Amino acid sequence: MFSLLLFFSALGVANAYVWPSQTLDALESARWDQNGHNAVGFAGFVVPCDLALQGFHSGRANVADWVRTAYHDMATHNVEDGTGGLDASIRFSEETSRAENPGDGFRNTLVEVTSIGIAHVSIADKLAVATILAIENCGGPEIPFRGGRVDAGGPNTPGVPEPQQDLQSHIASFARQGFTPTEMIGLVACGHTFGGVEHAPFPGISPEMDDPNNTLSVSHFDTTFAHFDNNVATEYMSGTTQNPLVVGSNDTTNSDKRIFASDGNVTMKSFADSPELFASTCSNLFARMLNTVPRGVQLTDVITPLPVKPSKLQLTMSGNTLKMSGEVRFWNMVADPQRTVFMLLDDHAGGTRNVTLPAAGVSTATGGRYNAAWYTLVPQSSTSLALDAAAGVTGMRFVVDGKLEDQGGVGFAVQDGVVFSDTSCYTSNQEPFKWRMDVAVRNGLNPTRVYLTQIGSTDSTGREIAIEVDVPPPAMPVAVNVNYSIWSIDMTDGNFYNIEAEVDGRKLIGNDVFGYGATGLKACPTST
Ligand code: HEM
Ligand SMILES: *[C@@H]1O[C@H](CO)[C@@H](O)[C@H](O)[C@H]1NC(C)=O
Ligand SMILES: *[C@@H]1O[C@H](CO)[C@@H](O)[C@H](O)[C@H]1NC(C)=O
Ligand SMILES: *[C@@H]1O[C@H](CO)[C@@H](O)[C@H](O)[C@H]1NC(C)=O
Ligand SMILES: *[C@@H]1O[C@H](CO)[C@@H](O)[C@H](O)[C@H]1NC(C)=O
Ligand SMILES: *[C@@H]1O[C@H](CO)[C@@H](O)[C@H](O)[C@H]1NC(C)=O
Repeated sequence: MFSLLLFFSALGVANAYVWPSQTLDALESARWDQNGHNAVGFAGFVVPCDLALQGFHSGRANVADWVRTAYHDMATHNVEDGTGGLDASIRFSEETSRAENPGDGFRNTLVEVTSIGIAHVSIADKLAVATILAIENCGGPEIPFRGGRVDAGGPNTPGVPEPQQDLQSHIASFARQGFTPTEMIGLVACGHTFGGVEHAPFPGISPEMDDPNNTLSVSHFDTTFAHFDNNVATEYMSGTTQNPLVVGSNDTTNSDKRIFASDGNVTMKSFADSPELFASTCSNLFARMLNTVPRGVQLTDVITPLPVKPSKLQLTMSGNTLKMSGEVRFWNMVADPQRTVFMLLDDHAGGTRNVTLPAAGVSTATGGRYNAAWYTLVPQSSTSLALDAAAGVTGMRFVVDGKLEDQGGVGFAVQDGVVFSDTSCYTSNQEPFKWRMDVAVRNGLNPTRVYLTQIGSTDSTGREIAIEVDVPPPAMPVAVNVNYSIWSIDMTDGNFYNIEAEVDGRKLIGNDVFGYGATGLKACPTST
């Protein structure tokens, strides 16, 4: 028994968490749904890896901007007082206007990274996961990702190292950030496998080039500036490097030269001798960099992929029918037309329905090292799965090529206690919006509270904030069918909402995201 347990934990068979979980589901998708079907979108900015907001042949690459932005955001950390760290404080103009943060790379990064809307994920987590995806998709090693970063409400204390500072200042600066002198050499080499020094912000380091293939005159740190590899070390050791912070004409700003040689080249030689050692060292140091957060911030466990993960689940009450839609992802699976996938749907009446699931698409992660196969929960040539509202649904299990997938026996719970009702409708579909959200509440659930949470609401600094709108209990219950009654609220905005409830002090999370503009929201019948 003991050895069996060891065997399973070594293989990582146990799920990282039990689905569903609002925050962990969102972090898991951001981390693992990288390319292809249902990709969250970050990788689209860095594949191919010489993609740059400034254009191809600009000499710049988004991947380099993202890595530098993450470092400069973290580099304000102070291990003594616990302030600073990866908290997206770099989004404040007080920081980007400092001499230690020259160039447009930070703005560009934030524009790209925050263009991906993900509820329940902070900007700092998006920056961290985007950095990991960029590195992994551009030749780099897999990097463990933890979520839970908290966005700063204002700028941090200055402290990003600059090239004209001396070696002792850099050692002291990295020590303040929490890194030893050896780790400093590693982190600088790992970062400077990407990108280079641009002429405009650093005219004294990078000369004008007048090169149509490098329109912004970026002096690259190595010959493969958009690709992770140990060339930054091999070229340095062989004396062929063009790294502008090593062979720059002004020795005052040759900070990489001082840092790389600070231990007699021992670390750089080990990187040049072994691409594997370089990759594994960088995986550790990048993770350390991204996990350096202000004191008090609690990061999650490493987000590993769920082997089986339902996704985009939506339930809509339509008369006597509960319409269900969604998809399920199977990790480490490629497309296979011979595969059979069944969903076993358990209901309140003790019944089980057996549904054959059609394939929906495939996705990949970490530059193609992982594959996932997606299936739709909706039968072929239908838009939703029609369930009997009285029986409802309590959970899902899946059978893949004869093997039962039920999350170790607990199944995949589906809540049908509070669901969107298709009697919801609008009377004005332009500003000022006027619409009514009808929530079908299962009889006998007796929620103490039904409420809507607004999706994507932020404060003036871009931080996600919780906005909840209570749906008042009906004065007189309006039955939608034998087993559900309607709770209604009149709305006057264009936002999207999730339906939630409190039952016996527990939070019940609806999977629906509905609002004005939601598919299926129709015009209210005009009274005559
Ligand atoms: C003493 C420490 C460091 C100094 C003095 C330094 C200095 C510089 C300078 C002057 C640039 C040019 C920026 C521009 O042209 O806009 C640069 C670029 C870059 N740095 Fe560093 N750096 C240091 C450490 C790091 C670390 C630890 C990382 C990440 C782990 C990093 C990642 C990058 C990246 C990816 C770029 C390229 C940006 C691009 O091409 O858009 N640097 N660094
Ligand atoms: C620009 O790059 C292309 C190949 O990518 C090369 O053929 C061309 O000679 C380069 N032009 C200059 C001016 O270096
Ligand atoms: C070299 O760089 C330093 C720091 O930026 C600057 O003060 C100095 O004037 C530069 N020297 C020359 C010769 O340009
Ligand atoms: C480190 O390597 C560089 C590049 O090969 C070389 O120029 C330098 O002299 C070496 N420094 C030490 C201390 O070994
Ligand atoms: C589900 O249905 C398929 C045929 O459509 C059948 O082969 C399979 O045994 C059924 N599974 C269960 C658990 O009933
Ligand atoms: C549906 O409602 C009827 C009438 O209240 C009730 O008898 C029945 O048990 C309910 N069905 C389920 C599956 O909860």
